[in-house]
Amino acid sequence: MKDNIILVGFMGCGKSSVGKRVSYMLKRTLIDTDVWIEQHEKMTIPEIFEKYGEAHFRDLETKCIQELIRTEHNRIISTGGGLPVREENRKLLHELGQVIYLKVSPETVYQRVKHDTGRPLLQTPDPVATICELMDRRKECYEDVADVTLSNDGEQFDEVLSYFEQFR
Ligand code: S3P
Repeated sequence: MKDNIILVGFMGCGKSSVGKRVSYMLKRTLIDTDVWIEQHEKMTIPEIFEKYGEAHFRDLETKCIQELIRTEHNRIISTGGGLPVREENRKLLHELGQVIYLKVSPETVYQRVKHDTGRPLLQTPDPVATICELMDRRKECYEDVADVTLSNDGEQFDEVLSYFEQFR
């Protein structure tokens, strides 16, 4: 297994903010799969969804992980919330490194994403229901892929960060 640290979890679970802090703390480069895809495709995520659909975006996620396995080590890698849903991707994530699942409640997600228009899957008439339904469907995938699970609701940010001290 490679020595990357991979953050997985639902939209709004804090992968990006935890990723940034951990990257700074451990002096390791942060790679965000959404940013990687946007840079390679020269399009934003909403544009990719709109022009080519979700299935195409999922193919790009698989391609991204395959490429990272070939090229990266000793990185912090933050992943898109839907990436672990594909079984193939879960296997690939284990080749890439240690997988940390940041677990949050649907309420936390809603509070963090309610003003955000950059997540196409949550642009629905009832985002709370969408979050609950999607989270319910994905829960098993996150649990299945996780080497470690950390709760990241409310005030738990410092506790989450302290887990990563061991990698210094
Ligand atoms: C998605 C999550 C997003 C992004 C895309 C789809 C999902 O990433 O990959 O909008 O299916 O959960 P974040 O989890 O960083 O918001």
